[in-house]
Amino acid sequence: MIRVVFNQKGGVGKSTICSNLAAIAASEGKRTLIIDLDSQCNTSAYLLGNDYRVNFSVAEFFEQTLNIIMKGRPYQDFITPTAFPNLSIMPASELLGELIVKLEQRHKIYKLRDALVKLKRDYDEIYIDTPPAFNFYSLSALIAADSCLIPFDCDDFSRRGLYSLLANIEETRQDHNDKLRVEGIVVNQFQGQASLPKKLVAELRAEDLPILNTLIHSSVKVKESHNISQPLINCAPKHKVTLQFCDLYAEISA
Ligand SMILES: Nc1ncnc2c1ncn2[C@@H]1O[C@H](COP(=O)(O)OP(=O)(O)OP(=O)(O)O)[C@@H](O)[C@H]1O
Ligand SMILES: [Mg+2]
Repeated sequence: MIRVVFNQKGGVGKSTICSNLAAIAASEGKRTLIIDLDSQCNTSAYLLGNDYRVNFSVAEFFEQTLNIIMKGRPYQDFITPTAFPNLSIMPASELLGELIVKLEQRHKIYKLRDALVKLKRDYDEIYIDTPPAFNFYSLSALIAADSCLIPFDCDDFSRRGLYSLLANIEETRQDHNDKLRVEGIVVNQFQGQASLPKKLVAELRAEDLPILNTLIHSSVKVKESHNISQPLINCAPKHKVTLQFCDLYAEISA
């Protein structure tokens, strides 16, 4: 199963949701891989700590696709184990930004899919974190994935962005990847006491948008977990927000 977590809007919780679902899968014994496609490297720093800069990241993987003369390294060379059992990562790199023009010019959009077709044999679950843009990297991920989770942070701008986001995913499905499905919209940073989040979620449900049942509440524990580079299931397994992530994982795995 290959899941991409995508929303072209920034700061909605892509990296948080991607990393924590992957960490839960790994904690349940699933051989789990995360691919970080965002040059901000947030997921890489979250899961690897300060040592997230490695010799062979996803940037070198893409760079290798531009070099048709040299024999390529095996895909496993770009993967690094984390400190958490069963959880490995192909980390991002700041270099992703400068590679993008060459990769576009040379039509390398299917290279991630080709790699994941092979890597799928070694992992039970693969999670892909994306940058906050509909660009070469997020499109590569949508082409490679079986399903897409869309984080939504209960804000009116996010809501307006949902329609063009869903249209982009549908266009990608039609043009490049007919097995891609929207697994659901993940409501994140929900604040139960306030009325606006409830109203927005009710309105989206009334429009028949695929809102998942589990709501992830806003919690300072999430930021603490980033700060110590330990996913919630590892640093606070009994916390309310961790249990919400576990419920979300169970809901999408059912
Ligand atoms: N449930 C939550 N409770 C509290 N804070 C949260 C929660 N989810 C995300 N955040 C905070 O919101 C910010 C954005 O989260 P995150 O980096 O996961 O979003 P993103 O969509 O990956 O952002 P970007 O588009 O920049 O990659 C972070 O500071 C994170 O700590
Ligand atoms: Mg992110």
